[in-house]
Amino acid sequence: MGWSFPLSPLVTTITIVLLLCVTLQTKVVKAFPLYTQNRWIVDGNATRVKLACVNWVSHLEYMVAEGLGERPLDGIAKEIKSMGFNCVRLTWPIYLITNDSLATLTVRQSFNNLGLPQAISALQVNNPSLIDLPLIKAYQDVVKGLGDKGLMVILDNHVSKPQWCCSNDDGNGFFGDQYFDPDLWIKGLTKMATLFKGVTNVVAMSLRNELRGPRQNANDWFKYMPKGAEAVHGANPDVLVIMSGLNYDLDLSFLRKQQVKLSFSRKLVFELHWYSFSDGDSWTTENPNQVCGKVTGRVMRSAGYLLEQGYPLVLSEFGWDLRGTNQNDNSYFNCLLPLAAQLDFDWAYWTLAGSYYLREGTVGLIEVYGILTQNTTLPTTTFLLQRISAIQLPYRGPGLSEVEAHKVIFHPLTGLCISGKLEPLKLGPCSNSEGWEYTAQKVLSVKGRNSTCLQAEGEGKEAKLGNECSVWEIVSDSKLHLSSKINNASDVCLDVDSNNNIVTNACKCLSGDKTCDPASQWFKLVDSTRKST
Ligand SMILES: *[C@@H]1O[C@H](CO)[C@@H](O)[C@H](O)[C@H]1NC(C)=O
Ligand SMILES: *[C@@H]1O[C@H](CO)[C@@H](O)[C@H](O)[C@H]1NC(C)=O
Ligand SMILES: *[C@@H]1O[C@H](CO)[C@@H](O)[C@H](O)[C@H]1NC(C)=O
Ligand SMILES: *[C@@H]1O[C@H](CO)[C@@H](O)[C@H](O)[C@H]1NC(C)=O
Ligand SMILES: *[C@@H]1O[C@H](CO)[C@@H](O)[C@H](O)[C@H]1NC(C)=O
Repeated sequence: MGWSFPLSPLVTTITIVLLLCVTLQTKVVKAFPLYTQNRWIVDGNATRVKLACVNWVSHLEYMVAEGLGERPLDGIAKEIKSMGFNCVRLTWPIYLITNDSLATLTVRQSFNNLGLPQAISALQVNNPSLIDLPLIKAYQDVVKGLGDKGLMVILDNHVSKPQWCCSNDDGNGFFGDQYFDPDLWIKGLTKMATLFKGVTNVVAMSLRNELRGPRQNANDWFKYMPKGAEAVHGANPDVLVIMSGLNYDLDLSFLRKQQVKLSFSRKLVFELHWYSFSDGDSWTTENPNQVCGKVTGRVMRSAGYLLEQGYPLVLSEFGWDLRGTNQNDNSYFNCLLPLAAQLDFDWAYWTLAGSYYLREGTVGLIEVYGILTQNTTLPTTTFLLQRISAIQLPYRGPGLSEVEAHKVIFHPLTGLCISGKLEPLKLGPCSNSEGWEYTAQKVLSVKGRNSTCLQAEGEGKEAKLGNECSVWEIVSDSKLHLSSKINNASDVCLDVDSNNNIVTNACKCLSGDKTCDPASQWFKLVDSTRKST
């Protein structure tokens, strides 16, 4: 899968340092269970817990977590942890726990029935203790294996009938569809919530993935989703309940007019999905600044507004084609990261494993979004890890305010921030960035240090810290360009050169032009109260 991206050796070094920092800083959460407090998820000490999860698929026909044939569970869990995640969204189908003829199968029998002897021999090598367990016991062992490494788990009911998800007519899309019997769903949720009662690393249950299809409507959503939530809470009051929206979980706008009524409080969280293809291929057919502005607006109107209404929102599926050749995905990911950093919401990357035992008829189908290689051993690309490490740790939230509110200047293309500590000015890990201030006069200065504001010196020149403060306007529809006037004449935009030095260049395709990629000039001023390391 090797793909290359213009990365300097410096960035590679930074990546290693940064991954170490992330590993060291990831707090082991002790004060379970979790609650909600306004838009934040908090622990028993009212301290924010940011869910930085990866999805792990376990809902396909055989109902076994992907990749266990390639590597021992313990090693996979350790790898997830070392990549800076603190949690896994582990998918499951309702039938796993309601359909006796399936639930009583062992892992071996399940693969056997599907004609997958190679999966059996692989598991025999790497996870022999799982091979003769009933499917549900194997699932429980996976949850425990994650817990042993300090990883939290969201149990995600992905489908009813085990199969790849999702299409409008797969019978799993909405209440009343062929396989989606609401009563059976309630029964399954109840049994699952009961089974994991007292398992402290199971912090949440998402009630149903991506509601969709011709039957979907808000009335039935309000009829059934609270029932599912009450069933889960009644069986296991410790878990957060997570509700998906309509239209493949792109749309939660119907909650503007009507709120969810529950008998309990401080446990309700919403989830949102957002892929490049959620907006067709507009990322390559229109100007990237204009698309980013438009799509960000869509996401805020359809779901982001819930944060302002005081609900936590988990971006529980998003992903990037890691081959780097999908231009829609590249632009989308450059636009998504700054919003994720600024809103500082919880999230789950899609997906962990680099291949599937069997998906939609293909044995060993490759997952181009997979964080691990096809053989589940190595990160597919450390570049992804560098970029998402910028959103793994919380920037702000209750109990975390360590220093005065400030900004970090985030560069999504690299996942790095303008350090402010090094001269010449360079990108570095966001966790180690200076606190910046963006004043009413539109000056960008390092907080608490005199004569240290950002100066544009001219097109093609390095930007400097000094006392001749430039005025920086936030321009373009994406609001991700920082532009300044040189000698009252030409506008320049903040940019990075090939050595990750901070420079100013002519502003790139602020509007109109569809062919140019402005992302090297995209910066986001992110609100933070986090102490620099
Ligand atoms: C809160 O933190 C303190 C000290 O870290 C700990 O002793 C206590 O058990 C925590 N409270 C809860 C509810 O977990
Ligand atoms: C259980 O699953 C099998 C295999 O998918 C299916 O044929 C059967 O109809 C299911 N039974 C129930 C009660 O859903
Ligand atoms: C797994 O695959 C990667 C490349 O995809 C390769 O470098 C590595 O050697 C493989 N490891 C094993 C144990 O097969
Ligand atoms: C900044 O300069 C002013 C005036 O020269 C001085 O009073 C102040 O103490 C300085 N602040 C810092 C943080 O050095
Ligand atoms: C920029 O324009 C303003 C107002 O037009 C003028 O006062 C100032 O001297 C000009 N600065 C430079 C460097 O030309």
